[in-house]
Amino acid sequence: MSINKTLGEFIIEKQADFPHATGELSALLSAIKLASKIVNREINKAGLVDITGASGVENIQGEQQQKLDMYANKIFKNALIARGEVCGIASEEEDDYVFFDNKNSRNGNYVVLMDPLDGSSNIDVNVSVGTIFSIYRRISPTDGPVAIEDFLQVGRKQVAAGYVIYGSSTMLVFTTGNGVHGFTYDPSIGVFCLSHESLTIPKTGKIYSINEGNYVKFPLGVKKYLKYCQEDDESTNRPYTSRYIGSLVADFHRNLLKGGIYIYPQTAQAPFGKLRLLYECNPIAFLAEQAGALATDGYHPILDLKPIELHQRVPFFTGSPEMMDTVHHFMAKFKEG
Ligand code: AHG
Ligand code: MN
Ligand code: MN
Repeated sequence: MSINKTLGEFIIEKQADFPHATGELSALLSAIKLASKIVNREINKAGLVDITGASGVENIQGEQQQKLDMYANKIFKNALIARGEVCGIASEEEDDYVFFDNKNSRNGNYVVLMDPLDGSSNIDVNVSVGTIFSIYRRISPTDGPVAIEDFLQVGRKQVAAGYVIYGSSTMLVFTTGNGVHGFTYDPSIGVFCLSHESLTIPKTGKIYSINEGNYVKFPLGVKKYLKYCQEDDESTNRPYTSRYIGSLVADFHRNLLKGGIYIYPQTAQAPFGKLRLLYECNPIAFLAEQAGALATDGYHPILDLKPIELHQRVPFFTGSPEMMDTVHHFMAKFKEG
């Protein structure tokens, strides 16, 4: 059995590649690593102890919070507060951004935005869930409180982003702008080990992932593209295979490894789609571009969109570059309104 490099060793070895290279970002990633181990431990107990199901509380976006949404939010928040590199967070499960107004953290140089538990309604049925994180350098002066501008930075300003997938095994996948690297958790020794160095997405694939139950509500360009995916054409490997887990992290992870496309489009009822720009789309888009994939709102790169509010939603298209070129062609050709 080969013994792989650990995440901790990898971070130290690559520290010089990190923006600013002061060691702060390494410490921050260590906090995320620790929190993800704790959340992983709790998720593994789902079904044994009373941690599944709804909490009875709605988040500010009107969605039912699951008990584990709130638990994961607390664990990641506490792990970040305990360090000192992070002066504040924004989270899908918090109404507003949170300033870490204590001696240790208030002068921290980074902010973290996160979806503490993605796909959380899947927990009760033992299907993969995830955590998504996005890290920016603070732009407000360090001698004052953190400001909304720190959180509304354009996605291209991210200094690191990643996800943890709690699946058949648990993996942490991240980028600091020098490629995408994946680490698989070995629970017997409590360590993430390098298993997928420099991940790149296949240029094309056979998988399309979309909630097809909403078909009648989709924009015409998406409808036409789906029909294209289902056509019989041996020379282009069609019909494609439809795969949709309902956890963005799990759907993206599979497509990243195998090649494919993920779409959560706008509809007449939800003109901005469902997924959140700051907590879901920006970090996944950073990973996607670093892995040679594309990530857009159907027309423009996600990483170029200027956020206007914390819980902003955006249509999301991401996947293998050749498949994305084709969907863009359909979106432009059948543009409505
Ligand atoms: P969250 O659990 O963080 O609210 O995210 C759920 C998201 C995403 O993970 C998934 O791709 C999508 O919602 C599924 O939505 P539909 O059930 O509408 O397909
Ligand atoms: Mn989510
Ligand atoms: Mn969530």
